[in-house]
Amino acid sequence: MQKSATRSILTASLLAVGFNTPAFCQTSPQANTTLLVDIDHRPSTSLNGDWRTIVDQYSTGIYTLHQELRKDGFFMNAPFDPSGHPQDYNFANAATLRVPGDWNTQRPELLYYEGPIWYEKDFQHTAVSNKHTFLHIGAANYRTFVWVNTKKICEHEGGFTPFDCDITAALHDGSNFVVLSVDSTRIAEGVPTLQTDWWNYGGLTRDVSLVEVPDQFIDDYDLHLSRTDRSVIEGYVHVEGAPAGTPVTVTIPELHAKIESTVDANSRAAISIPTKSLSLWSPEDPKLYKVEISSGPDKIEDTIGFRTIETRGTQILLNGKPVFLRGISIHAEAPYRTGRAYTQKDVDTLLGWAKELGCNYVRLAHYPHDERMTRTADRLGLMVWSEIPDYWALQFDNQAVLAKSRQQLSEMIRRDRDKASIVLWSVANETPNTEARTKYLTAMVDLAHQLDPTRLVTAALLVRTEKTASGSNKIVDDPLGKALDVIGTNEYIGWYEQHAEGADTTTWDIRYDKPLIMSEWGGDAKAGNHAASGDTHPALWTEEYQAEIYRHQIAMLNKIPQLRGTSPWILMDFRSARRVNPGLQDNFNRKGLISDQGVRKQAFFILQKAYKDKTLGRAE
Ligand code: GCU
Repeated sequence: MQKSATRSILTASLLAVGFNTPAFCQTSPQANTTLLVDIDHRPSTSLNGDWRTIVDQYSTGIYTLHQELRKDGFFMNAPFDPSGHPQDYNFANAATLRVPGDWNTQRPELLYYEGPIWYEKDFQHTAVSNKHTFLHIGAANYRTFVWVNTKKICEHEGGFTPFDCDITAALHDGSNFVVLSVDSTRIAEGVPTLQTDWWNYGGLTRDVSLVEVPDQFIDDYDLHLSRTDRSVIEGYVHVEGAPAGTPVTVTIPELHAKIESTVDANSRAAISIPTKSLSLWSPEDPKLYKVEISSGPDKIEDTIGFRTIETRGTQILLNGKPVFLRGISIHAEAPYRTGRAYTQKDVDTLLGWAKELGCNYVRLAHYPHDERMTRTADRLGLMVWSEIPDYWALQFDNQAVLAKSRQQLSEMIRRDRDKASIVLWSVANETPNTEARTKYLTAMVDLAHQLDPTRLVTAALLVRTEKTASGSNKIVDDPLGKALDVIGTNEYIGWYEQHAEGADTTTWDIRYDKPLIMSEWGGDAKAGNHAASGDTHPALWTEEYQAEIYRHQIAMLNKIPQLRGTSPWILMDFRSARRVNPGLQDNFNRKGLISDQGVRKQAFFILQKAYKDKTLGRAE
């Protein structure tokens, strides 16, 4: 039976017994539910550490041998009595996995594992009146079901965005336990779908914690600089459960600014803060302000930068001034140890390399990264392209898939809307140019603008190629471009097409009067694989040839008048099941400018010089 069929039966079965996304499972703000934000500034009890786990390849923890739903599944966490009923599981002496962390890189036998794994954790709790306790999961790839003290709580689909489930009603004083099933099986109706050029790292890949909030709590806010008046900070604060008239206070101590407002019938308070001597956030001066937001018993603080990002014809304007985005693409692959990146050390290494390269921008491909990445980009002054995994050939004619894309976009924007570093939301990467796809993604662009009118919306498009008398012509006329604010395009002249010098005779015909970002280009090189010295035609896969690609590409890019940014593919080699050439790839995509072990290849220094000398691209 096809995996995807199995998966949909599992989902259907769980739905059949009322296991759908209950209102208290805060997964998608899009359906007016609440997803906790600013978690890293809220008091919480970490559940990180060792969890007991059971690899359950046949979903035995949910199904009988006749594929019926069990009432005594693993979610019961029943104690095992050797003299009693011959129970076929026992968490008490199960092997553990570290949380957060993908399972693939924690045990050699799990490197290629795709399927369900059960997680169990005991924790102490003391009830506090007028408080709700949420289980916060920073990310779990790919589909997660949650039980607390044997009671079903919620479920979530999507491997790269946070979700929160209100577990208050299931808790009691003293010892409690949570059981999760995380299933990393790729599914045809997933987001992403079956084909991806990155490793399908499964499990609880980001922080897990318990977060207590008052009955009425601040669950969403958007504070940004007005595009029409850069001395005014505007936006809103949403207080979940608050009746109209509930007061809200926003304070920015350093600006001696304090605003009182009240929520309307939708529990949302409009905010407008006139300011004087505001320092605008920019890569050169990434100024962040402490912002305190309070409403009734709830109070949180955040650090927020204020800037504007907009376009004017083919220019991108940061704080009203033309800017060129000198960037690099980055996967959430942990340097050195590999696996999903989630620690501050991973983040500091990756973004430190981007700064060393001379970047003022990073493309966080192809999914929302750990929140530490965007928080750190705020601090370091790196503009960010943040993307949902509407990657390659989704089922663009399937409304249920569109709902998943909408959910993941909403979760990404809800989590990161107050990060000044994010200047672009991307709704897709290299999708096939069909009518269904353009309709689907135009709806996604509209949703992004609706959820966040303060940022630019883009996507990485494929381009057409025509032969010309002297070489080739790249035509950028994907109909999705009509809906985008900024056109992203991927091309691999010198790798997947032509040789490096083919870039010298390539022209570009961009059919949109909009800013263009060359969102991907490059080629593979195995670090340490060198051509013979003096070889004027270095072979593919050598560092010398990758450097040749960069030299010719940079010269070509400088001939594109409306180019306003670039993010070559990619900062660091990353694991991919599609890359199986032994000795050269060994399940790694080798387009990194740096190997997964931190070895800088020759092309790194070619791009670094172009960025530091500012000889690549122009802002106007
Ligand atoms: C594509 C795709 C990347 C992929 C890259 C490659 O453009 O967007 O995800 O890794 O090309 O083929 O290396």
